[in-house]
Amino acid sequence: MLASTLLLACLAAAVCGKPMARSMQVHETKETVPTDFELVGPAPPDTVLNLRLALVRGDLVGLEKMLMDVSTPSSPLYGQHLTKEEADAFMAPKPESVDAVNAWLKENDITVTKTSSAGDWLSFSIPVSKASDLLDAQFSVFNHTDSGKTVIRTLAYSIPSDLQGHLELIHPTVIFTRPLTGPAFKIAPRKSIQTPAVNRTSDAVPASCESEITPACLQALYGIPSTPASVPSNQLAVSGFIEQFANQQDLKSFLSEFRPDLPSSTTFSTQLLDGGENPQVISEAGIEADLDTQYTVGIASGVPTTFISVGEENQDDVDGFLDIIEFLLSLTNQPQVLTTSYGFNEPDLTSTMANNVCSAYMALGARGTSILFSSGDGGVSGSQSQRCTTFIPTFPSGCPFVTSVGATTNIAPEVAASFSSGGFSNIFAQPSYQASAVSTFLNALGSTNAGKFNPSGRAFPDISAQGENVVIAFQGEFGLVAGTSCSTPISASIISLINDELASQGKKPLGFLNPFLYSTGASAFTDVTSGNNPGCNTNGFSARVGWDPVTGLGTPNFAALRTAVGL
Ligand SMILES: *[C@@H]1O[C@H](CO)[C@@H](O)[C@H](O)[C@H]1NC(C)=O
Ligand SMILES: *[C@@H]1O[C@H](CO)[C@@H](O)[C@H](O)[C@H]1NC(C)=O
Repeated sequence: MLASTLLLACLAAAVCGKPMARSMQVHETKETVPTDFELVGPAPPDTVLNLRLALVRGDLVGLEKMLMDVSTPSSPLYGQHLTKEEADAFMAPKPESVDAVNAWLKENDITVTKTSSAGDWLSFSIPVSKASDLLDAQFSVFNHTDSGKTVIRTLAYSIPSDLQGHLELIHPTVIFTRPLTGPAFKIAPRKSIQTPAVNRTSDAVPASCESEITPACLQALYGIPSTPASVPSNQLAVSGFIEQFANQQDLKSFLSEFRPDLPSSTTFSTQLLDGGENPQVISEAGIEADLDTQYTVGIASGVPTTFISVGEENQDDVDGFLDIIEFLLSLTNQPQVLTTSYGFNEPDLTSTMANNVCSAYMALGARGTSILFSSGDGGVSGSQSQRCTTFIPTFPSGCPFVTSVGATTNIAPEVAASFSSGGFSNIFAQPSYQASAVSTFLNALGSTNAGKFNPSGRAFPDISAQGENVVIAFQGEFGLVAGTSCSTPISASIISLINDELASQGKKPLGFLNPFLYSTGASAFTDVTSGNNPGCNTNGFSARVGWDPVTGLGTPNFAALRTAVGL
């Protein structure tokens, strides 16, 4: 009966062999080509597109409630993180969604090549011609004129009307992201640097730290212990993208200069994704990757650290972010801390994609991982300094389920680094955990910058740490780097060391940090009350007493953190 109906439908459509005509509905659009991109021309019809499809997840409301319950210190469920199976069950699409989407793919002879752990993402490869028919789209080649990197995108695509509510998005289609970048490196001859003697019985910060930040400076400034961690199951992961390779020899030079107390075999392990590599030729070392590995391995003494190098197989930076989170969610024993010093300008993503990625962070947080992202280096103008009329929030910092880290400079006292991105998301609403801290700030702010930001959005950063004049070893030389890229691995390392102490007492890791940070944890941060983050022809926001969108709650104090977590 069914078969003959299909046959009739096929005959009636008069285009047998082509997909059956379904009623289509425009699903996502991009109104204009972003300014940095130009249209080159139609995409060659036989170019194969590696597409991925997100199904609507089953129970994100339930998952968010679980995340808050297990992450809020006053909750009876605090620390009762979900298992992989429990988190997957919330993330898994409903069976009717799976059936509806699979039927559509089957009807179009599309073979799924990869399914995510929870079944919420499907990957497949089809030529441009087929993708254009399938999605009523016009795939074209666009050139990112600064980098000369070309991408294939469409300004709109449609999906069958009856898949609305089942199919969330298809990627890459309407998202144009500017290529990710890392910080700049300035060579500083070693003779000018005095390695401060580590004196664990003294709180004094060596005077040389005013001009150059080393691990000893951070240990003294934040009270970070130098004693090695003791629990091998307590892991720290470092995201690596854009062929930024982390060099073991640079790390060795760095550790022998600044952490001679650590065993000389101390290093990181490597996880490759998407055809990623981590070649050890010194000339291929990347500044960001060297910085991120040196300020994790060199600060989180003895914490097993993994550098995740994501390749450029899909030629798309959002894909890399998706693949890291999918990979971590697929592990039964995932790392307890993830640090990432890359991000996007929020307007470069669609709100659908931003929400999708943010929900994946929610799942990892509910499983007990602390996820830290750098807030960006463009002040209120976004991830990098740029022209703007309204403030540009960054992503993932605007996701309420990650911890965003801003930057400070100077030592006594620390002040906000002027590049420290901060502000308010235009996609994500303000989460309740920060309502009180943010309203105090907004009341004090008055009408300053009114109309340039969304006062009801998720506000960031949450915390901050040193981000200027940070010494690294890079391609055999020592030099200085700056950026929230420094602050993030430093903060992540501190959380990893606290987790180690918790684990050694049989206690749960901190997991998603923010509900703790804005409540019992707030007292463990030194408030930064001066400096500002200019951009968009304004002075940006000013750091002030209490939380602010430049330095968040302030910089960590290890002893106070210990107390706040009950150690
Ligand atoms: C992309 O733009 C750059 C800068 O204008 C130009 O040099 C390059 O030829 C362009 N590439 C294509 C494929 O149009
Ligand atoms: C280390 O700290 C102790 C106690 O405060 C002090 O007596 C000693 O001089 C310090 N040593 C150095 C090298 O600063």
